Amino acid sequence: MSWYHNAVFYQALVGSFKADGDKEVGTLRGVIDKLDYLQWLGVDCLWLSPFYASPLRDDGYDIADYYSIHPDYGTMEDFEELIAQLHRRGMRIMTDLALNHTSSDHPWFQASRTDPTGPYGDFYVWGDDPERYPEIRVIFTDVETSNWTWDDQRGQYYFHRFYSHQPDLNYDNPAVQEEVFKILSFWMDKGLDGLRLDAIAYLFERDGLGGESLPETIEFVEKIRSFMDTHYPDAVLIAEANQPPAETMQFYGKGERFHMVFNFPVMPRLYQALALADATPVYSILDELPALPDGCQWGTFLRNHDELTLEMVDDDVRELMYEAFLPDDEMRAHVGIARRLMPLMNGDRRKVELMFSLLMTLPGAPFIYYGDEIGMLDDTTLPDRYAVRTPMQWDDSEHSGFSTKAPSRLPVVGGTSVAAQLDDATSLLNTVRSMIAERHAHPDLGTAPCEPVETGEEAVLGYQRGDLLCLHNFSDRSIDLGPVELGPYGYAWLPA
Ligand code: GLC
Repeated sequence: MSWYHNAVFYQALVGSFKADGDKEVGTLRGVIDKLDYLQWLGVDCLWLSPFYASPLRDDGYDIADYYSIHPDYGTMEDFEELIAQLHRRGMRIMTDLALNHTSSDHPWFQASRTDPTGPYGDFYVWGDDPERYPEIRVIFTDVETSNWTWDDQRGQYYFHRFYSHQPDLNYDNPAVQEEVFKILSFWMDKGLDGLRLDAIAYLFERDGLGGESLPETIEFVEKIRSFMDTHYPDAVLIAEANQPPAETMQFYGKGERFHMVFNFPVMPRLYQALALADATPVYSILDELPALPDGCQWGTFLRNHDELTLEMVDDDVRELMYEAFLPDDEMRAHVGIARRLMPLMNGDRRKVELMFSLLMTLPGAPFIYYGDEIGMLDDTTLPDRYAVRTPMQWDDSEHSGFSTKAPSRLPVVGGTSVAAQLDDATSLLNTVRSMIAERHAHPDLGTAPCEPVETGEEAVLGYQRGDLLCLHNFSDRSIDLGPVELGPYGYAWLPA
């Protein structure tokens, strides 16, 4: 078993977590200020979303310089200090790298536009035919209608999976591949414990194919892994690959690709089961996913900084999910729902706890999205996915203790805070903290197979994980199972 099998991960966005002093956006120093809190909660590994130099047109996933930190967030020294302080506490840190594309502000792209025969001329995917690769889907359906955008300067189109200001790097160019290893070394040498590789299924394009999880992409993933194994054998690589189940498995291979992959197949099934008061969708997806190769682990999650994605579910399921969780079209982002966990659960604390219990006991290591542990609300008037990225609420002071000044990027939503829940043993925050402690007390949950248990009740999901029998009631009815009675949306972890 490796450290990540049993680690509890916590995702924070630097700009939204905590500002130091009177800064108007969150900072790395702010994160350092809150490490006591994360340690108290029981977090083992902090995951920071991109904090690099960026025009922030995609909240930092549009990187303009892979080697520097956005000045709003602080300095390289602050980052080094953050790593040191985490490690001193016995905690770990992973960061996020978007390697599929850069910002159009990146000097490579600027050079590529102006100097087609120069060293960066072939760094991006240029072409004369905007109809090429018709099989490749548009992902950001709210704003883009094509994966090609015309560039006047170069007199050609460039290819992009996401926003038109995020040109895709050309992985057929060995010089691009070399840059990736330089970037990896630079950040890993700072002492990181892991990396999330963003949008990793999309590196290559080939005529006639959908351009996702291509053999060339998988081969490059194997190169990254063997590089990591040689130089940073303790670090974990986690894939963001939002693909159908069988394709998702390709990112593990036989264990020679990623150590971890986010469990996109299971995530929407949990919400679907709640909407239907029926555990069947969860049983079926667990059945469909094969056991993982040695050394591998799922990254289990309920929410993250993106929309609750529904790209990979069948049309009828998507419709059902929109009906159940999208009362207002304003809350939709691309092919999904931009809402936080508590509002998705209609403010019903019992459902939120049920979801946290699933997060802690299903196969995988749990990833908690900042703020969900206090049931933070969202602001659905904000565009794109910003509804779920508002400042963390620390206390009841003005601006919720995020800063002494009004935050300049996103407003504070308000309604609850860490301080308001800290001393209340029955609060959601303390319940989540106890669940994390329970999870740590059962290390079997890191690797034990998940054996489905027939409960005789459509609404109740049962599975055995090592020495625990886990029961989850997806309905609003009390259900008597004989040895145990589950209240509405009740859950139990029993000795097996
Ligand atoms: C990933 C990120 C998302 C971003 C996209 C493009 O899916 O999670 O936030 O917008 O990549 O970089």
